[in-house]
Amino acid sequence: MQHSDALLQFMSRYVDYSYTGPHDFERPESLPWVGHMAFADMLVRAYRPELLVELGAYTGVSFFSFCNAVRQAWLHTSCCAVDTWKGEHHAGYYGEEVFAAVERHTERNYAEFARLLRMTFDEAVDRFEDGSVDILHIDGLHTYEAVRHDFDTWLPKVRPGGIVLFHDVVEQHDDFGVWKLWDEIESLTPESCCFRHSHGLGVWRKPGGPELEHPFLRALFDRPEGFEAVAAFVRAVAERQELQRRAHALERLAEERQEQINACQAESEARQAVIDDCNARLEQRAEELRAARDEMCERDAAHQREIDALRCEKARVEEAYDRILRSRSWLVTRPLRFAAEWIRKRRAGSR
Ligand SMILES: C[S@@+](CC[C@H](N)C(=O)[O-])C[C@H]1O[C@@H](n2cnc3c(N)ncnc32)[C@H](O)[C@@H]1O
Repeated sequence: MQHSDALLQFMSRYVDYSYTGPHDFERPESLPWVGHMAFADMLVRAYRPELLVELGAYTGVSFFSFCNAVRQAWLHTSCCAVDTWKGEHHAGYYGEEVFAAVERHTERNYAEFARLLRMTFDEAVDRFEDGSVDILHIDGLHTYEAVRHDFDTWLPKVRPGGIVLFHDVVEQHDDFGVWKLWDEIESLTPESCCFRHSHGLGVWRKPGGPELEHPFLRALFDRPEGFEAVAAFVRAVAERQELQRRAHALERLAEERQEQINACQAESEARQAVIDDCNARLEQRAEELRAARDEMCERDAAHQREIDALRCEKARVEEAYDRILRSRSWLVTRPLRFAAEWIRKRRAGSR
């Protein structure tokens, strides 16, 4: 198989790369290294290290990317992470829960080949034999003095031809100084390259090793063409992963919103039921009031009819009385009524 075909075949598996690890990539402390996860996988599979050491693991984004590649490729690699798991002024200081989560995840998934050394880098360095480390990832404190010290103390531990990775190599703000160390050491070997995305990752091969055989590693250090092609691909994979992360975040947000909408709908349905119930009761009350009003109207009408009838009766009686008063016999008997009245009064007076 030709070199370029082998490289294409190797890279093609990463076209739809997506890492499923323990990390919640919504948390900002998980993000800085995320763009290099696919590269970590490529490097481990291509280099097939016997011993990989990481200085500065924090939540384990980079460390578990290496471990994941080792497990999936069935390699006989020992992975070791060194960290106080206390933090420092660039990453920030954090609590015990971070180490507890990293330890739990390591035990569950990578117990056969991964070790956590909870101590300073200086305390750990003598536990490793000179020339024993195949891949060293330096990601501790990022001041020039700190990273220079870590590089100088750990370089003897790296096998000739071994790989040293430096994170945050393009950050030049505040007291970040990895870029300065990178400037100083890049020219010490023809086999170095630097990814500029995700805060920058410098890849530096310690001089003196055998010629590289794997097409990916050869392309990596074949500058400028080979590396530019690899870097463009790695960046595209990282961008795709970032888009996927955002898409998942948006999906989660959409699900949350849908749940809120469902809750609002349920609430509005419950309120509508209350409103419907009130409306029904109001309608029933209105019906009762209409019935009461109709009954009162009927009673009023009956009373009015009675009043009218009484008025008619009264008019009839008055008319009859008038007729009597105006009749001839009444007029003729008038003296008699006077006389009868006079006698009645006299009798009453004599008593
Ligand atoms: C930038 S973080 C590591 C990020 C990690 N590689 C990732 O993928 O997210 C740096 C870590 O290095 C640790 N650290 C810094 N200097 C150290 C030292 N001299 N000894 C031990 N740990 C150190 C800190 O505790 C912190 O957890």
